[in-house]
This record gives sequence, C-alpha cells and structure tokens, in this order.
Amino acid sequence: MTASGIAGPRYAPYANGKFALAMGLVALDPKDWIDADDNRAAELLEKERLLAANRKAVFDALPGCEEAQREVLVLLLEHLEKYHPGLIGFEDGTVTVRETGKSYRMADFADQALDLAGRLVQEDLCLMRPGEEGYVLIAASLCFPARWLLAEKLGQPMMRIHERVSGYAEKLGRPVDRFFEHLRSDKPVQRLNWSIMDDPALFQTGGKFRTEAEAVITRENAGDRLWIRIERQTLRRLPKSGDILFTIRTFVDPLSCLETRPDLAAALRSALAEMPEGMQRYKSLPPFQDALMRYLDGLASKAA
Ligand code: HEM
Repeated sequence: MTASGIAGPRYAPYANGKFALAMGLVALDPKDWIDADDNRAAELLEKERLLAANRKAVFDALPGCEEAQREVLVLLLEHLEKYHPGLIGFEDGTVTVRETGKSYRMADFADQALDLAGRLVQEDLCLMRPGEEGYVLIAASLCFPARWLLAEKLGQPMMRIHERVSGYAEKLGRPVDRFFEHLRSDKPVQRLNWSIMDDPALFQTGGKFRTEAEAVITRENAGDRLWIRIERQTLRRLPKSGDILFTIRTFVDPLSCLETRPDLAAALRSALAEMPEGMQRYKSLPPFQDALMRYLDGLASKAA
C-alpha cells in the first residue's frame, strides 16, 4: 500500500516521469540497510539452488580479501540481530535461517564469509577495493544479476565494469569514482535503478542489446508478459578494511501492478519516451517497445 492507500509497486523511481542518467544517491538510514519481505524464504532457497548448481557463477572472490569478507559478515550479523531479530538464530558458531531451517557452521566459511553473508539476506553483495584505475570488484555473492556475468566483471574497475552502459563513461564515470573516494563509513547511501524486462527470472546473465521483435507481446497481454525490475542499491564503507560494500536488492513485479496506479503508468510512459535510444537498446526495450507504450497509454488514459 502507498501512503495514499492505493496498492501499487513499492518503489517507483520513474514516478517523476523523467529519465536522467544520474548517480541519484540519497542518504541511507543505517537501520534500513537490509530489506526483508515476504519473498525472503523463496529467494534464499533460490540462492541455495543456484549456489549448488554452479557456485562460481554466483560467488567468486579474488585472493587477499578474506578479512574484508569476514568484516562484512560480522556487520551483517550485528545488523540482523539489532534490526531484524527473529530472522536468524546464532548458537555455538552456527547460524540458522529461521524461515528455511538451513544452518551454516561459521568455521566452514572462514575464508568465504561473503558467501555465507549472501545466504542470510535477499540482497546480493559486492565488495569493492581501491585500485590504480578506481574501485575494483574483488568479491561478490551475486545470485540475481540483471543480465551480466560475474566472471566478466570480477577484478575490473568501475569504469570498465560499466563499459557497455550507454552514457556511463561520459556522464557518470568521474563523479562516481570521486564519490567512492570520499564515501564515509558513517554515511551510507542508496539509489534505485529500474528496467522493463520480458523475463521475471532473478538470475539472468545475458540479454542486453536485444533487437529482434517479440510478436508474442502485444498491447493486450503486456501487463502479464512484461515485468518492472527495480534494484535498490546501497553503498557503505567498511570501517576496518576501508573497502566498500555494494548491495543490490532486486524487486520484480508484473507490469500489471500499475493497473491500480494510472498516475505511475503515465509517469513510466513519459520516462520511457525521454530515454535516449542508446539506453533503450542497452536495456533491450526495442523488441517490445511498441506494445509496452501502447499498454501504458491505455492505463494512463484512466488517470484523473
Ligand atoms: C554510485 C554508484 C553506481 C552508479 C551510479 C551505477 C550506475 C549504473 C547504471 C546507470 C547502470 C545501467 C543499469 C540499467 O539502467 O539497466 C549500471 C549497470 C551496472 N552496474 Fe552500476 N552503478 C554504480 C555502482 C556499481 C557498483 C559498485 C557495481 C559493482 C559490481 C556496479 C555494477 C554494475 C553492473 C555489473 C552493471 C551492468 C553492466 C553491464 O550490463 O555490462 N555498479 N550501473
């Protein structure tokens, strides 16, 4: 429910009807760092499934960051105990996730503590360390990538990680690098990212820059065949190691969630219309753009 009492999506970063490639960082109250909702059990089980099937695709780390990984785990356990009591139990060096009943011996994860941390929360966790060309991705528990491959980004600095993001190098690269240098451990931040996708899967490693038309998606069925994917991302500096932890919490809702919110449908339509072509191609919108816009037109016409 929103403040107005009208049901709809929980986050709507497109609500102002604009598209701007911007850092969009806002202060994060430390108590809101981790977000848990009704999908928690299902998403943690999905993480377990992905880790069992192909661990290296969803967890990987460069040598030399074991201590920083342990720092993340300790911070996370302290946070959960303080702000989400009841989600996990902790006894004799064993952590238990209450909803799934899964237990983990801390000792088994001594050198891969970020893997254990990732199994305790819905967020994906990425560890960044200063390098010669800016902050470098040194470890990640990444079960829900939005169409990218961990193996291609591990060991890379921010500028190269974002190489194919349309407009990033020109508009965001330097400000983001500068921001990382000055981020303070007592001033965490968050930002929201959004996309429209034709696949609701949380784990997606490919599918950017698609152009082939999707005849099966029409104005009539777009509400059920397209999804709004929102990433709530947070950044905080780890006080001991000085590394930065980047968290990504993914929300996927069918586009039809806007049926009760014609105002948001109109805003999304206008944000999409403003989006530069390069960004539309990056996000693989062309295959269904026409059906999407006409569906949103239909919803928006119900506004006011
Ligand atoms: C202030 C910080 C950051 C900003 C402003 C930023 C901005 C962006 C933007 C605008 C995109 C395009 C997403 C889309 O619209 O679909 C993106 C994608 C991405 N970002 Fe970031 N990002 C930030 C931090 C990070 C960090 C710390 C990582 C570390 C893992 C990261 C990894 C990625 C990856 C892997 C992609 C997908 C790239 C691809 O498709 O090749 N970002 N980011």
